[in-house]
Amino acid sequence: MKTVKEILDQKGRKVFAIDASQTVLEAIKMLADEGIGAVVVQKDGKTIGLFSERDYICRVVLTGRRSENTPVGDVMERKLVVVHPDTPVDDCMVLMTEKRTRHLPVVKDDQLVGLVSIGDLVKDIISGQQLVIEQLERYVYYS
Ligand SMILES: NC(=O)c1ccc[n+]([C@@H]2O[C@H](COP(=O)([O-])OP(=O)(O)OC[C@H]3O[C@@H](n4cnc5c(N)ncnc54)[C@H](O)[C@@H]3O)[C@@H](O)[C@H]2O)c1
Repeated sequence: MKTVKEILDQKGRKVFAIDASQTVLEAIKMLADEGIGAVVVQKDGKTIGLFSERDYICRVVLTGRRSENTPVGDVMERKLVVVHPDTPVDDCMVLMTEKRTRHLPVVKDDQLVGLVSIGDLVKDIISGQQLVIEQLERYVYYS
């Protein structure tokens, strides 16, 4: 069964993170510049939360907070859902569905070693299905 490690081998292990004391404006600039939907929030190098586009809408825009003077640590999601590199991809799908999150930081021995998003999992499923289709097409063609 495919695991998170194999997804990270393909997509890479860089994680975009921001310190909890930095502003929401800095966080959304990072989201825009990097073309991502969430940043990991850290304090003293330790992962303490996640800040997503949804958090920006619900906790900043709709509450009338100002992006330029609100620390991202005040509006991040604190209930972190993380996975291990050995976690099966199927389990990640279940977790994302049950916990209603689209991003799972990957943690090993208390260290942040990557992040997988729902799009990474969908991409992997599609490429698996494409392989099966190609094999079936070859089978039909030669038989
Ligand atoms: N073609 C691809 O390789 C690919 C991969 C993932 C997503 N997508 C597409 O992009 C769109 C948005 O994707 P999404 O909903 O998965 O979310 P997203 O926009 O947050 O993720 C896009 C990519 O950025 C990475 N990413 C996001 N936040 C990160 C962070 N803090 N640190 C490191 N990497 C981070 C994700 O793992 C993913 O590879 C969807 O349409 C999806 O299908 C395409």
